[in-house]
Amino acid sequence: MPYIVSTALVATVKTGKGAMPPGGMCIDCTDEDYKKVIEYMSKQEM
Ligand code: HEM
Repeated sequence: MPYIVSTALVATVKTGKGAMPPGGMCIDCTDEDYKKVIEYMSKQEM
């Protein structure tokens, strides 16, 4: 089953949060790019 990345998380990344800069400092990332990165981060083993 595919992992569905929340559009709310993509919106938070674009806005920035706490110590995270808006867009994660990426100047040319698309929403699709952010979804892929968040999905990748979400799969990392602790
Ligand atoms: C494309 C690159 C990045 C992506 C996709 C990304 C994604 C995320 C996501 C999804 C969260 C969780 C937001 C939430 O809880 O609602 C987060 C939190 C955070 N990120 Fe990033 N991030 C990126 C780049 C960065 C960079 C470059 C920094 C630091 C220079 C950073 C620092 C942080 C910090 C400090 C938080 C915790 C914010 C808080 O809860 O106060 N991130 N990030």
